[in-house]
Amino acid sequence: MSAQRQGPIRLCFVCLGNICRSPTAEGVMLHLVREAGLEDRIVIDSAGTGAWHQGERADPRSRAEAQSRGVDLPSIARQFTARDFDAFDYVIAMDRKNRVDLERMAPSEAAERKLHLLRSFDPAADADDVPDPYYGGDDGFARVFDICEAGCRGLLAHLRKEHGL
Ligand code: 4NP
Repeated sequence: MSAQRQGPIRLCFVCLGNICRSPTAEGVMLHLVREAGLEDRIVIDSAGTGAWHQGERADPRSRAEAQSRGVDLPSIARQFTARDFDAFDYVIAMDRKNRVDLERMAPSEAAERKLHLLRSFDPAADADDVPDPYYGGDDGFARVFDICEAGCRGLLAHLRKEHGL
């Protein structure tokens, strides 16, 4: 991606249901971007590969965890569509299964090149996937928050470098 560009950089975080992991990553990234004063340079959204939870706010367990860290999760769940590959510059999957599902939807090689795994931006990551906390215990949500925070910090550092922010 070129360092010189018109308009903001557009990010979309994607998981399965769009109620736990990707809304957490979206909220964390919004928080980091505001803290850095870059909110007019980086636009952030999230979506799910599945449609079951469309129209819902983030899972109450995700919202409670985020709130305890001073982070708001504003997302309303929606399903990712092939058109989103035009609307976003970075499509950031939470796990490898999400990434495979997105690869199948990608209309072009240029679209495929927009795909990334969140944890690939975390230099200290010990695994590829953000684990799905939906059917697990409440401690899964704290862990997901920590993983999303580390990934988003690395992503912001990458964007600063890549786009001269
Ligand atoms: P998410 O978690 O992909 O992190 O939003 C899930 C939420 C709901 C379901 C699966 C995963 N579900 O099967 O309904």
